[in-house]
Amino acid sequence: THQWRGIIEEYRDRLPVSDSTPVVTLREGGTPLVPAQVLSERTGCEVHLKVEGANPTGSFKDRGMTMAITRAKEEGAQAVICASTGNTSASAAAYAVRAGMVCAVLVPQGKIALGKMGQALVHGAKILQVDGNFDDCLTLARGLSDNYPVALVNSVNPVRIEGQKTAAFEIVDMLGDAPDIHVLPVGNAGNITAYWKGYTEYAAGGVATRTPRMWGFQASGSAPIVRGEVVKDPSTIATAIRIGNPASWQYALAARDESGGFIDEVTDREILRAYRLLASQEGVFVEPASAASVAGLLKAAEQGKVDPGQRIVCTVTGNGLKDPDWAVAGAPQPVTVPVDAATAAERLGLA
Ligand code: F0G
Repeated sequence: THQWRGIIEEYRDRLPVSDSTPVVTLREGGTPLVPAQVLSERTGCEVHLKVEGANPTGSFKDRGMTMAITRAKEEGAQAVICASTGNTSASAAAYAVRAGMVCAVLVPQGKIALGKMGQALVHGAKILQVDGNFDDCLTLARGLSDNYPVALVNSVNPVRIEGQKTAAFEIVDMLGDAPDIHVLPVGNAGNITAYWKGYTEYAAGGVATRTPRMWGFQASGSAPIVRGEVVKDPSTIATAIRIGNPASWQYALAARDESGGFIDEVTDREILRAYRLLASQEGVFVEPASAASVAGLLKAAEQGKVDPGQRIVCTVTGNGLKDPDWAVAGAPQPVTVPVDAATAAERLGLA
């Protein structure tokens, strides 16, 4: 019997590893590409969801982290550090356990989802809540890795991008070619950079005949790339992408321009609407930031920017269980019943 071996083994020839590299893996990648029926009907297109919440720690970060921790191990690092809005820290914490390393994480105080905090804690990371935002955490993490014996595993580490580009490979391998459009949420802008690298490498190697247009969406309160200036005090309910000064800003612009795409914003209201649509009509439970891609696609469709008949992939980046507060908020409380079939049937509207 065969199981998916993780992105390094599956795409070894396209990644910076050698035969002697000590691979640290949780068998990440190989995630489902799910046809989205309702979104397809709404847009007149063939829409697929790349469900990255199915990764071992529940987000796309695992693709980059298997590379970053593998490389850190190869270089003899005993400790790693990252700044995070939650998912990078959850992933770093888990992979550090596999590698027998210490993991330090810097998170913005009060602004990371409960599930992500729980992951960092249960994997035994050393957590500092910083009295600042993600951008402050990243500045601090860079400084610490420059001056102390600790390796930085944020996506400013280029091997993170190498790992994350494999998601584009998987999509082309599944569909037989690149889609017409690829839609992503944008925060620190590492992932849009990585997908674009993956698509262009496959096209250059003749595996795909073309590259998709890259469409990125930021949350309105945290949209520095759309505004063209740093946002000093970013805000959004989608805490994963609450970032005011993305590290990969210039690469995101390159992905946008070279692909003929665009980067726009979606409001928190639009994000939550897409979040609920995905859960209640597609059966796919994602965290709010992930729904920014779908919110963006729906906004673009309403603006007449989506010609029918195209093949579109939306990446949904993280699992809904990461941030259950938004699932429960505003939902009706379940009713309590006695152990009695007649009452249960009545309450369920069956009788
Ligand atoms: N979606 C989710 C669920 C994320 O956690 C992130 C980033 C993004 C989208 C945006 O990806 O930064 O590559 O543009 N999370 C980082 C973290 C910042 O610390 O977990 P990006």
